[in-house]
Parts: sequence; structure tokens; C-alpha cells
Amino acid sequence: MTSEAPWSHDLDWPHGLAPFDPFDTDIQCDPYAHYAWLRDHAPVIRAGQRETPLYIVSRFGDVTEALRNAHDFSSVPRRDIVIPGFLLNSDPPDHTRLRHSASRAFTPRAIAAVEPVIAKLIAERWEPIVSAGGGEVIGSFASPLTIAVIATVLGIPVSQSETMREWTTASIEYLGMLFRGVPNASANDTALTSMLAYINAVFDTVDVTHGETVVANLARLRNEGVLSAEEAAGFACQLFMAGHETTTLLTGNCLDFLSVNPDIFARLGAVETIPKFLDEMVRYRPPVHRLTRYAARDVEIAGCRIPAGASVRLLIASANRDLAKFEDPDRFDPLRKNAAHAGFGYGIHMCIGSWLAKLEVRLMLETLVATTARLEPDTRWPRQPLAGGAFATVGLHSLG
Ligand code: HEM
Repeated sequence: MTSEAPWSHDLDWPHGLAPFDPFDTDIQCDPYAHYAWLRDHAPVIRAGQRETPLYIVSRFGDVTEALRNAHDFSSVPRRDIVIPGFLLNSDPPDHTRLRHSASRAFTPRAIAAVEPVIAKLIAERWEPIVSAGGGEVIGSFASPLTIAVIATVLGIPVSQSETMREWTTASIEYLGMLFRGVPNASANDTALTSMLAYINAVFDTVDVTHGETVVANLARLRNEGVLSAEEAAGFACQLFMAGHETTTLLTGNCLDFLSVNPDIFARLGAVETIPKFLDEMVRYRPPVHRLTRYAARDVEIAGCRIPAGASVRLLIASANRDLAKFEDPDRFDPLRKNAAHAGFGYGIHMCIGSWLAKLEVRLMLETLVATTARLEPDTRWPRQPLAGGAFATVGLHSLG
């Protein structure tokens, strides 16, 4: 028997916990108590506006089942905001064709080939922080580093990466406005338009016969008609957008966590623990908290009816703390056995760049361990909290 999902504000929330509102900044910055209550009491709820409710799903089993079911849960936004080539916002068969056109560049083997270049980019950017005895590590380290790495992997000159960073940041903001339905959002599309024009200019000049890079491959597929010109350029832009902020936030989360957990930092010295630490960080404090899908038809989750066309928010960060899947889920345990979490997604849209992100942050942590004995928070740069317990700024003393 299916029933209607309850509205968030009609639920009997415990004292001290405001009804879950996905747009409330305070809740977004510290959402785990809400997630726990939702999983226990109301695994599917409705929030947002009466005319256009959002369905919120919080349990590991329900979240991952929906992510595996691209047939019923579409990634294509229903409003008129589809940008050609955006892999994240496509369904099969377009998704299959697009993903295939770049997936080879992101396999563990292909990514391992760029390891020395990434290591050099890290060393160059970490050294000034060590020499200065610390500093603000998001804006001056993690963000410029991650964009330079994506540029390298795609085959865009690293000298261009600062401009790519500005365009990427502004484009993410623009897309956020577009998705939220902010009036006149399209007046803010300048950065995305500039980035698309730049990528198209690179496609026109790149050596498509001998080039092995992602852009050379996309340009070749464009010339062969496998991808349209808009799709090829859009896809390259989305790689920058999908990879930059996420990896920056993960780097910040790792550094912040290590600065307040010196015992864990001390144990990180054994290099083989770094990959496990990293994976546990993506479970415990994932840079992405929720994924949105659109019901392609009337569907059911945990006995609740979800009407065709509805937006469904799948809380992967909540799924990662589900006791039904993880033992002692609120404990950070880098030696955790059952670590198959949802922090990189699930199903056909599972993160294409996860190997790159893991390699990059692993190399960064290895450099950290080799150059720094201890980290401490530096209050000259007060932490600016962001949604999901990540930070826009992290100040650190690095003690050699
Ligand atoms: C997809 C997380 C790094 C490119 C995803 C998804 C998640 C995710 C949760 C699934 C989206 C969905 O199902 O709707 C992360 C995290 C990262 C990271 C936590 C770093 C810590 C990267 C990097 C790149 C990248 C470095 C590329 C350079 C993509 C792309 C998709 C994706 C293109 C769409 C895949 C598809 O739709 O088939 N990522 N990501 N990500 N990610 Fe990542």
C-alpha cells in the first residue's frame, strides 16, 4: 500500500530541531542531526512549496536504489535549462554516448600516467605554505591546485587555469540560480559563454590526429559528428565544474580535520593508510550532500508515492551515516571494513573523476606528511562554514 509522504513541517520534530528545510543555510551547514531523525522517523518527506514539492530521501537503501534506477529517476531537469553536453544532466542514450567519449581518460591507468605532473603541481603550491609556516589553504592552495590538475588532465594550458577557475566559479553560481528558478538568471551567463567560446577555440586548433588529451578526443568526436559542437564544448566545461569545487572542498575537509585530530595526523605517516583515510573522509564529510533526480513516471520509495515530474533529493551524505549500512556510522574510522559509501554517487552517473580526485588528494596528503609534522587551526582565517560541514576558508599553522 502506498501513502503520501508527510510534509516536513507537519512532522513532530524533537525539541531543538527545526523542521527540515533544504534551503535553510543553518541546517545545511550542520545537517546531520536532521538526517538521523529523518532516517529513523520519516525516510521520505515533502519540503519546499506546496505547488512544487521536493521529495527528500534519506536512507542508504532507498537513495542507492533510486540512483541505480535511471529509468524511473531521470537526471534531465524538467524545466527549460538543459545545457548540451552536461553529462550529469543527461539520460541514456545521450548519457552513454557522452560518457563513453571521455571515460578512457579517467581510468585508474590513464590517471596514473599524469601522477608525476600532478605531484609537481602540488609541490610547487604547497612549498610557499610550508615556508610561511601556514596560511589560508582553500583560496591559496586547494582551489588553484585542483583547477590546474583538471586543466592538465584535459589538455588545457596550466597558464590558463586562473581564468578557468574564475569562469568555473561564476558558472556554478549561474547554474545554481538557473536551477533555483531565480528571475533573470540568464543575465549571469557571461562566464559560461566565455568558457564555451574558449573551449571551442581550443578545439579548432588542437591536433586531433596525434593528440591524446581529453580535448583532442572531444574535438575529434566533434569533427566526426559523434558529438555535436555544443555537446563537446559543454562536456569539457562540465568537467571543470564537476571536478573543481568538489575536490577543493575535499582537500579543505581533510586539512581541517587533520588540524583538529593530531592523533589521526600522526598515524597518517604510514602511507598505506592515506587512501583509506581519504575514502572515509568522503563517506564521513562528503563534499556533495545531495543529488537531484526527476520522477520519470509515478514511482514509489519506501512505500511513499512520488508523482511523475516531481524533483527527488537523494541525500547521499545521510545515506553515508545509515546504521543499516555502516557500523557506528558517526565515528570517523579510516580502517573501516565496509566502506562502499555513496559519496561519489551510484549507478550510471557515478563520478567519472573519482580516481583523479583520489589520486590528487592522496598525493597532496603524502606531500603534507613529508613536509609537516603537525597542523593547527590558525584563527587569523576564521572558518567560513559552507553547506554540509565544508569550509570556504581554512587557516592553518603548519609546524615543520
Ligand atoms: C559525478 C562527487 C571529483 C567529474 C559525480 C557524482 C558525485 C560526484 C556524487 C554523481 C552525480 C549524480 O549522480 O548526479 C565527486 C566528489 C569529487 C569529485 C566528491 C571529489 C572529491 C570529480 C572530478 C571530476 C568529476 C575531479 C573531473 C575532472 C564528474 C562528472 C560527473 C560526476 C563529469 C558526471 C558523471 C555522469 O553523469 O555520468 N561526482 N566528484 N568529479 N563527477 Fe565527480
